[in-house]
Amino acid sequence: MNNINDLCKLQPTDLDAGQVFSGKPSGTTVRGYAVPSAYTPAIDHEYIFHESSRDVVVWFLNPQEPLYVFGPTGCGKTTCIKQLAARLNYPVFEVTGHGRLEFADMVGHLTVKGGNMAFEYGPLALAMRYGALLLLNEIDLTSPEIAAGLNSVLDGSPLCIAENGGELIAPHPMFRLVATANTNGGGDDTGLYQGTQRQNLAWLDRFTICEVGYPPADVEKSLLARRFPSLPESLCATMVDYANEVRKLFMGEASTGNLTNTIEVTFSTRSLLRWGDLTVRFQPLAHQGIQPVTYALDRALAYRASRETRAMLHELAQRMFPQHMETEAPKTETAGPENLQGDQALRFMRGQLHHTTAVANPRVHLEVVHTLSGKNQNGKFWIGEARPEGLMLHWGKPNTVGQQHVIPAENCAGNNSVLELEARAAKKLTKGYVLNTTKSSF
Ligand SMILES: Nc1ncnc2c1ncn2[C@@H]1O[C@H](COP(=O)(O)OP(=O)(O)OP(=O)(O)O)[C@@H](O)[C@H]1O
Ligand SMILES: [Mg+2]
Repeated sequence: MNNINDLCKLQPTDLDAGQVFSGKPSGTTVRGYAVPSAYTPAIDHEYIFHESSRDVVVWFLNPQEPLYVFGPTGCGKTTCIKQLAARLNYPVFEVTGHGRLEFADMVGHLTVKGGNMAFEYGPLALAMRYGALLLLNEIDLTSPEIAAGLNSVLDGSPLCIAENGGELIAPHPMFRLVATANTNGGGDDTGLYQGTQRQNLAWLDRFTICEVGYPPADVEKSLLARRFPSLPESLCATMVDYANEVRKLFMGEASTGNLTNTIEVTFSTRSLLRWGDLTVRFQPLAHQGIQPVTYALDRALAYRASRETRAMLHELAQRMFPQHMETEAPKTETAGPENLQGDQALRFMRGQLHHTTAVANPRVHLEVVHTLSGKNQNGKFWIGEARPEGLMLHWGKPNTVGQQHVIPAENCAGNNSVLELEARAAKKLTKGYVLNTTKSSF
């Protein structure tokens, strides 16, 4: 309930679109909120806005009609909307479509609370009342009844809740609706998206439609390099080129030697990032004669393919990663194989911490591994562990038990121990500590 109270206090405000989306003032204003709420998605600092997001940004500047975003699976549709909303401090209610989703699931239902019947509002009712963004993912998996129920809302009419005594909820001026889908609503002519339903024409007619594709190669390359700083940049670049070759093979447009057949799997940005992640995780296996790149490729994509396609994917990998087909030694950093320093450490830590929502108590382990000028501090350690109750700090000189201190959550930046951990660890890193990735847990 406290979270809902949070929504009542939101103050709409005009923000500079350039400042919000690219960090450079543009003079164009965009409507958002002064501060985030509990429902505002967290900002992913690694997120890169690219040309595919342009139409969505333009829509945010003047969102007169609801927006329908379609594009291949895992290309970044949902993330794009949520990251734009995060920058505008917009609360987001997210619903994922499926064949048995009913209109009532979105409006709300009667429940028993403290022995009395009470109406519990659903995401549509809440978004309309408080001025939030309703994000309907995979809308083409829902049945046409949902569309019919939503039609009058899309036209700007109030929502009438018969189950709650005919309560009328007028749309808040900041209420926005975005639907995402793999198809353009006309049904799936590729056979790839099982369960998608042809959408009702009258429903589709109420949306502004935009298509989002895979991020351009340079964006995917920097995405991989930022998320996985321990992977050499040249390897990240070849992985993206490989993914684009696979996409071409999938579309029957490959230009790679004799690989002219069409294949049944393709690389989404999601699978590409998984490939990067697994390649890093499997680096230690290089000592056992396993090639991390291909080993990770199987687990990120190729195991989903038929035997022939998998063989073809491996053949392509042999050609594109000849240097990595030798058993790889893990990349050694100047400060040791598991240690990262400076900007690289900062980027790595931030990237990991921003993905820790599901991980209990992320822990950052920092050490001094070089003797800082004039002082022998080698081995000095600093450990921060973010827990719901606060930030636990532990620091000391080598071979000592050190000292401990707890910063209660209410004294942490944004009442959030992860944010406090990030800020404190970043300060230490600028002072010469290095991040020990094996002793940290994210
Ligand atoms: N521009 C980008 N910057 C950072 N990460 C990105 C970007 N584009 C996509 N991603 C990452 O790609 C992954 C897939 O994105 P997302 O879930 O938004 O795809 P989607 O198009 O909604 O997929 P689906 O059709 O399956 O719903 C996410 O991990 C997301 O963080
Ligand atoms: Mg999605």
